[in-house]
Amino acid sequence: MNNTFVTDSIKYIGVDDPDIDLFESQYRVPNGVSYNSYLIMDEKITVMDTADKRKGDEWMANLEAALGGSAPHYLVVSHMEPDHAANIARLAEKYPSMQIVGNVKTFMMIDQFFDIDIEGRKVTVKDGDTLELGSHTLKFVFAPMVHWPEVMMSYETSEKILFAADGFGKFGTIASDEPWEDEARRYYFNIVGKYGVQVQAVLKKLAGAEVSAICPLHGPVLNEDLGHYLGLYDTWSSYKPETDGVFIAYASIHGNTAKAAERFAEILREKGAANVKVSDAARTDISQCVSDAFRYSRIVFAAASYDAGVFAPMHDLLSHLKSKGWKNRKAALIENGSWGPTAAKTMKGMLGEMKNIDICENTVTIRSAMKAADEEKLAALADELIK
Ligand SMILES: Cc1cc2nc3c(=O)[nH]c(=O)nc-3n(C[C@H](O)[C@H](O)[C@H](O)COP(=O)(O)O)c2cc1C
Ligand SMILES: [Fe+2]
Ligand SMILES: [Fe+2]
Repeated sequence: MNNTFVTDSIKYIGVDDPDIDLFESQYRVPNGVSYNSYLIMDEKITVMDTADKRKGDEWMANLEAALGGSAPHYLVVSHMEPDHAANIARLAEKYPSMQIVGNVKTFMMIDQFFDIDIEGRKVTVKDGDTLELGSHTLKFVFAPMVHWPEVMMSYETSEKILFAADGFGKFGTIASDEPWEDEARRYYFNIVGKYGVQVQAVLKKLAGAEVSAICPLHGPVLNEDLGHYLGLYDTWSSYKPETDGVFIAYASIHGNTAKAAERFAEILREKGAANVKVSDAARTDISQCVSDAFRYSRIVFAAASYDAGVFAPMHDLLSHLKSKGWKNRKAALIENGSWGPTAAKTMKGMLGEMKNIDICENTVTIRSAMKAADEEKLAALADELIK
């Protein structure tokens, strides 16, 4: 993909970052990430976003190779987050005649992030404005809070290309060979999950436009079966479950709560439930648990009590879910405690701060280790959860 063409006149000039330890200092990315950038070759040569400073030199080399000695006329800034905007000052200094296209909020942030004087070089656009590049025309579609307030997408009207900013992005380098859905879902819910309403608003604005390719700022260019990707974004952003099934997240100190969670999964399967997934919240990347909690229709939280509250990995997961606006799901609780179980009460309190979480009336309390009598209680909870 590197240095290849999206169309005859739109070139990919982004870079892969396979070695980053944590994206945004919190997300594990086993297959790295890409910082996408594009060059539109027309009368007015236009750069669509820059790249992270980690890959500034490589990105600049890609750009120069694509320019072949020409100077860019415009830089369009879709998003000011440094994984895309870090090289704005460097580019602006290198090409003093280049104009910078953004909105009022973009320019406020450029002033905050950089110490450069770009007076006289700003092209300030409003939602719906167009910019003529020659045979290409960019139409700006503001997408506030998908992922930051200044975000704008650009729709190129002649070739019907949507430059989607962080929308439709994915963890994983372009070179990595993996299905789009899993890492795009984990990316979506952790990066923009909280802003479903805003994503819905952009999807509505774009509904009338014919799109032949989506060029995101991370991950592959999407140029076939676009209905599939748009459909997933519609499901995700409307907080509807994608998969009818049960996700069981457990947090166990010495393994007994884990056993109860695994047994509960078996009981659910025996009762005919499809798509039952179990994860150890202490050992699974929390962003993966967040992604699965959004994905499935029913969620089970199983946790050991800890210091008159709930064991930390479960506390963490619930805090993340709250901050990402998790809602509209059916939930079941299993707790464990050796002297005064408190996990369920704490989990209930945290779930009570989220919207429309329907918690099963049955709550199963295990005392230290599962006993035969707990089977029946788990079976009753299973019935209530999947009825
Ligand atoms: C540091 C620590 C604090 C704990 N606090 C509580 C508590 O407040 N109430 C309680 O009933 N059990 C408490 N426990 C016991 C755990 O809930 C215990 O590990 C559990 O009963 C067994 O489940 P597990 O094998 O999944 O860890 C605590 C355990 C540890 C190690
Ligand atoms: Fe972003
Ligand atoms: Fe990004």
